[in-house]
Amino acid sequence: MGTPDYIDRMNVPIGSSIRHALRVIDETGHGCVLLLDPETGHFAGLITDGDIRRALLAGGSLDSPVAGVPRPTPTTGRVGMPPEQIAELMGERIRVLPLLDDQNRVTELVLLDRRVRLSVAAPSLGERELEYVTECLLTGWISSAGKFVTQFEDCFATFCGTRYGVATSSGTSALHLSLLALDIGPGDEVIVPSLTFIATANAVAYTGAHPVAVDSESRTWNMDPQCIEDAVTARTRAIIVVHLYGHPTDMDPVLDIARRHGFPVVEDAAEAHGATYKGRTVGSIGDIGAFSFYGNKIVTTGEGGMVATDRSDLAERVRLLRAHGMAPGRRYWHPVVGFNYRLTNLQAAVGVAQMERVDAILAAKRGIAAAYDEGLHDLPGLTLPPREAWAEPVFWLYSILVDPDEFGCAREDLMARLDSRGVETRPLFPPIHTQPIYRTERALPVAERIARVGLSLPSAVGLGKSDITRVVETIRDVRHARC
Ligand SMILES: Cc1ncc(COP(=O)(O)O)c(C=O)c1O
Repeated sequence: MGTPDYIDRMNVPIGSSIRHALRVIDETGHGCVLLLDPETGHFAGLITDGDIRRALLAGGSLDSPVAGVPRPTPTTGRVGMPPEQIAELMGERIRVLPLLDDQNRVTELVLLDRRVRLSVAAPSLGERELEYVTECLLTGWISSAGKFVTQFEDCFATFCGTRYGVATSSGTSALHLSLLALDIGPGDEVIVPSLTFIATANAVAYTGAHPVAVDSESRTWNMDPQCIEDAVTARTRAIIVVHLYGHPTDMDPVLDIARRHGFPVVEDAAEAHGATYKGRTVGSIGDIGAFSFYGNKIVTTGEGGMVATDRSDLAERVRLLRAHGMAPGRRYWHPVVGFNYRLTNLQAAVGVAQMERVDAILAAKRGIAAAYDEGLHDLPGLTLPPREAWAEPVFWLYSILVDPDEFGCAREDLMARLDSRGVETRPLFPPIHTQPIYRTERALPVAERIARVGLSLPSAVGLGKSDITRVVETIRDVRHARC
């Protein structure tokens, strides 16, 4: 494994002058240099700008050898050391910890400022969320009755461009109720993309129907219309499209197949709030759309979901089923077996506050994506997220594919290197047809490949430009060192 560029730049040979060491500190900006024995390549010590300042005040000159600067014995760690041990070694005092390999060479450097972990999708919560939740607490409206639930439903429906919005306890319950409202049940088949989060298929299984997983197209990573057509049988009753990682599915071919066969289309828009397909907001294009407001989603309520639809029959059915199947206008009277899938007023209060700044949230997501695009576009072996001319994606999680041969490093190694520098990542979802509960022998090569080489980078709305630069630099260093 080669040494990352930024470590090479911090090395100064033992025979260098203090002047040279100060220049290196000035250029690299980490407040120290690494002394290098030029003959062996071994680490020979760490000198901070403070050590040099004290040496100069004690009468040293800029031309004195840097090796003569008095300094404490450096604290070092070993490559591959677990993060807790690193944290213990560094304590509050150590700002830079060199990690040495078996040959006493520095191959990693843990910097205190880099120990602040960059999260894949931490929620962005502000004053308004606090204010509205406090209102719920002060007024006692904490369960699923309360003004914020209807406000949230109304503003979310407006945002999607649908006539109805029905809030639910999660994205999964929104999907489950959507399928039940469409009368999907035992013996039916529902076509789903294999490359998705497990909940898409589970919602089908809850109804007693069978999820039929199909392959993706490599351009968008979303389900391939030709594969949908091939998967249709006499039992097929519906299609669920997923707008994966915030990029819309190419809806026209899907709608065309659905129309020809008379199938309804459910949009799983859990990851794509505000994305548009040919100018239409996702979730409003098929018969019914389901959204998630889980803590890592673009709009969050902690846990929560929403059904969006123009069809009054479906909206009514979802409302009935979400609240114990209790007949409207007749308390404790239950014509159908329903569920308790309600969203609380507390959660909706967070949702209303989030929706007040949804444009800023989406702009931040797109800004993050643009910064990654700029920093990574020229790196051989990386495929950046899909971006079709007919779509306005929202980059829920900025996800890339790593070609191990061309990039010079496998996805797992890149993730490990990012992790060691405090950068959280996630692998892409393992395809449904490879999961223990839905395993089939059929190969779905496109979904399998994308899942094998894909990872999501930190995409939280709160990330700054310097955070993105840190991720980009780490990836560039890894590419340079070729693992
Ligand atoms: C594509 C997809 N569908 C469904 C869900 C389920 O949403 P929830 O976790 O809110 O139940 C998620 C995310 O969690 C998702 O990513």
